[in-house]
Amino acid sequence: MTANTSDSTLYERIGGAEAIESLVESFYEKVLADPELSFYFKDKPMGKLRKMQKEFFSAATGGPITYSGRPLSEVHRGLAISKREFGRFTEHLIDTLKEVGVKESESNEIISHVNLYADEITNDTEFGAD
Ligand code: HEM
Repeated sequence: MTANTSDSTLYERIGGAEAIESLVESFYEKVLADPELSFYFKDKPMGKLRKMQKEFFSAATGGPITYSGRPLSEVHRGLAISKREFGRFTEHLIDTLKEVGVKESESNEIISHVNLYADEITNDTEFGAD
């Protein structure tokens, strides 16, 4: 109940709805321009995906938004996204956060949060990789 009454949320600190809007737009431009990732998004409903990502990032940074999409494990199950691809995806996110002027300490907070979902999103199918 008393959370966030004295400290502003990460959502507010990075610039709120407007910042998340431009963040997600520039981020998907990079992801879709990446030949190692773009095929995943072919024929996907990109408008809906961007909207869901905006909700997700807003909620994840403590904003006044509820994520209305499906659970991330359910959404990505079956896509067979590798850890390496997940890493590329987050690299694009780091670059975008920098470009839109998010401070490094705040960017690190966001990336740590995103990394919590790595196991839910990835599904490496290779055997005997090590
Ligand atoms: C932490 C990282 C990630 C987050 C937070 C995330 C979040 C989301 C969200 C919120 C959706 C929309 C859910 C819905 O429509 O209900 C989605 C869909 C999708 N994501 Fe991710 N995602 C992440 C990583 C990735 C990666 C690494 C890839 C591929 C390289 C990927 C590929 C996709 C695809 C193809 C869809 C569309 C699925 C469909 O509509 O059938 N995601 N993701």
